[in-house]
Amino acid sequence: MDVTKPKVLVARRVPATVIDKLSPHFDVDAVQGDGVLTPDELRARLQGKAGAYVTGTERITAELLDACPELRAVCTMSVGYNHIDLAACTARRVLVTNTPDVLTETTADFGFALLMATARRMSEGERLLRDGRWRSWSWDFLAGSDIHGTTLGILGMGRIGQAIARRGRFGFGMNIVYHNRSRLPADIEGQLGARYASKDDLLRQADHLILVLPYSAASHHCMGAAEIALMKPTATLVNIARGGIVDEDALAAALRDNRIAAAGLDVFEGEPRVNPALLTLPNVVLTPHIASATMPTRLAMAGLAADNLVAALTGAAPPTPLNPEVLPL
Ligand code: DGY
Repeated sequence: MDVTKPKVLVARRVPATVIDKLSPHFDVDAVQGDGVLTPDELRARLQGKAGAYVTGTERITAELLDACPELRAVCTMSVGYNHIDLAACTARRVLVTNTPDVLTETTADFGFALLMATARRMSEGERLLRDGRWRSWSWDFLAGSDIHGTTLGILGMGRIGQAIARRGRFGFGMNIVYHNRSRLPADIEGQLGARYASKDDLLRQADHLILVLPYSAASHHCMGAAEIALMKPTATLVNIARGGIVDEDALAAALRDNRIAAAGLDVFEGEPRVNPALLTLPNVVLTPHIASATMPTRLAMAGLAADNLVAALTGAAPPTPLNPEVLPL
């Protein structure tokens, strides 16, 4: 152990390239397994650490920060940062970084794949085939809904929302409608061929709705029974953002009663636990939070989080800070 180097914790198993980047600068305490540290374990492992390399599963709370006063930087290998109390970090001059941009196109690809699998009933068809229930052709056998030429509603129009809009518009000739906290500049709307709508209008118009907005207290259950009731009975709903955005009980009831046609979910409120009501429904495609999971993208995310940690604690400019106002540390 080199006592002259700052100590950092890597809270999850990561690619070897991360350790290679960190080791020249830091005394690295690297968790080797894929299990999630409990809050007590995380607090204990962070004692005396100047930096934390985390993923979306480690919660960084004000209480934890107070128990780890030497912590100066928290670098998450995720674009989402709802697991980190950013205000509490800023108040304590702890830098927080995330990994935007490097996962945008991969995540948009997946969002589209999930949308298509959902609208075209692919999981339902595969289950039926594997179960030996495929008997014959009939005119309405597994008939789903079209993607091309339909209206794609995008709730949340950040980088990933815009990448999805491009796929919909230029790949499938879709009519793009979006709602976002702030409206895009007119030239970007023009490039994307996207039309701004109120949230209610978006829900009413969309043939396919995709959720790509950040999770926060404001967006918690922002797709509940009342919002789902505004959707077309033929519509699909896809969530690649965070599970807590959707009231899963309300969604399961709507799917069961065919008040909307289908849903595709990559994220869940209590993940990795999945609401049992969703597991029994045929018209929902379920995937285990893998929207950014391609090898090149995961390596890029891992590397960017490591670059952020090195820069943060060596006096350089971190590439993607969330609260740059705390710099210099
Ligand atoms: C992200 O980067 O936020 C993805 O959801 C993976 O955690």
